[in-house]
Amino acid sequence: MGTTTAEQSLWLRDTAADNHPALVGAERADVVVVGAGIAGLTTALLLRRRGVDVTVVEAATVGSGVSGNNTAKVTALQSTMYSSIESKHGKPAAAAYAAAAGDGVALVAQLAAEIDCDFQLAPAATYAFAQGERRTVEAEFEAAQRAGLQVQWEERIDLPFETFGAVRLPDQVLLHPAKYVRGLAAALTAAGGVIHEHSRVRSVSVTAPYTVRTAEGEITADQVVIATHYPLLDRGLFFARLEAERSYCVAARLASGAPPRDLAISAGSPSWSFSRHGDLMVLGGRSHPSGERGVDRTRYTDLEDFARRHFDVAEITHRWSAQDPKAYDLLPMVGSYLPGASSLWVATGFNKWGLAMGSAAGAVLADRVSGAASPHQDLFTPHRVTLRGAPTLVKQNAKVAADLVGDRLHSAEAGSADEVPVDEARVLSDAQGKKGVYRDRAGALHAVSLRCTHLGCLVRFNGAERSWDCPCHASRFDVDGAVLESPAVDPLAPREP
Ligand SMILES: Cc1cc2nc3c(=O)[nH]c(=O)nc-3n(C[C@H](O)[C@H](O)[C@H](O)COP(=O)(O)OP(=O)(O)OC[C@H]3O[C@@H](n4cnc5c(N)ncnc54)[C@H](O)[C@@H]3O)c2cc1C
Ligand code: FES
Repeated sequence: MGTTTAEQSLWLRDTAADNHPALVGAERADVVVVGAGIAGLTTALLLRRRGVDVTVVEAATVGSGVSGNNTAKVTALQSTMYSSIESKHGKPAAAAYAAAAGDGVALVAQLAAEIDCDFQLAPAATYAFAQGERRTVEAEFEAAQRAGLQVQWEERIDLPFETFGAVRLPDQVLLHPAKYVRGLAAALTAAGGVIHEHSRVRSVSVTAPYTVRTAEGEITADQVVIATHYPLLDRGLFFARLEAERSYCVAARLASGAPPRDLAISAGSPSWSFSRHGDLMVLGGRSHPSGERGVDRTRYTDLEDFARRHFDVAEITHRWSAQDPKAYDLLPMVGSYLPGASSLWVATGFNKWGLAMGSAAGAVLADRVSGAASPHQDLFTPHRVTLRGAPTLVKQNAKVAADLVGDRLHSAEAGSADEVPVDEARVLSDAQGKKGVYRDRAGALHAVSLRCTHLGCLVRFNGAERSWDCPCHASRFDVDGAVLESPAVDPLAPREP
């Protein structure tokens, strides 16, 4: 499950879902896709429409991952992506990324024509929230133009506070992401594809034909696509090349005025991102690296305060958060799981732009799985070596090494469970080592081992979401230890409070 516990997104809370049976017993398919988010379902639907026998296996429910917990903008203009890619990879790569992003948006527009998903065209914009961000936005305007996007420079966009210039791309897409993803699932099953929900994949055998195993069943397949957001399998070492960032969103009903017309995001840090659904305004931001220490409810209250400061807010109607992995060199990783492998595939690293890029990834993988070349396969190959990204990679892995050791040296935060306040958690020590104890709002205690079941880092409490989040590779667990997000597949061990 991509979100958690405490809150549910506007998109998931207000939409009914079809039910798909869990995987029980043994099955066979040409291709198994693991993960029913936008990347997995787009891949599966395109393959099915080419006549491939495809089964999707989902740990939770269709669209319940980050595909149902975002700000719903399907756009080729993506914050400051073009200036960043140009500086890391050069102008041809930025142009290639623009082409792939444009193809992703066009594919969504084409598939959405068959789906009731509140599709509409809207301009996207990257704006300067402070004078100091103007040069960054100008650089993005120039890089996006060089990459071939039909961007415009605007001194003002439709926001009720002072801004300092913006780059705008007209005719991008706003939709209801949960309805869209569930529509992909419905189209897949209508075309004869199979979906299993509530079926967490625990392992995939090493050689083809693959055996994909869950707790209660298994499927044999000639090819497997891992579209689990953070890649599930440790072979390929994706966990060492990705870093996840968590962001928070609120939806607000306005007492007067309308939500901004532009799908706008500010260029600096912190960033303030606007979207909408009907008369509700969506505001996102207050990001942090997943598993950061000391995260609390101020992530939400900061957004609410910002919304109330600048808009006539009648009511905050929804709160949610999600995380997305970013590759060390910024580009998505879409292609073969291992160098030279041509039957095990992956799609990840969308850096919070996966509605467009996860769709583009689906098209790339549908080509590759069916033995065709894709125009975007070289740009996104997971096995590229990018020297300009190397310092980030080194920093990322040094941080993981520090997190792995560092938290073990911290002393306990409370002497006993009696000291844990209501709706808070503390780290305690006993003869078995460190444990995390949370006291719920009814006063009951929930205790778990802090040792992440992926590779053993110690998890940290996220007070905004009431979850235990791993700082190393972004696995998340609920207060009773159940897995909320991969790459972990096993729950945290239970402990006595
Ligand atoms: C706050 C926020 C806002 C965003 N806003 C936007 C936006 O406006 N526009 C945009 O383009 N992008 C946005 N994104 C990013 C975008 O939503 C994602 O990049 C995209 O949805 C990723 O899709 P996915 O299919 O890779 O992952 P997911 O949707 O997470 O799907 C992966 C699925 O795999 C399942 N899974 C995991 N492990 C297993 C397992 N072991 N077995 C079986 N299934 C498993 C999960 O349950 C999940 O359903 C945003 C991201 C965040 C965090
Ligand atoms: S997610 Fe890898 S150690 Fe926790």
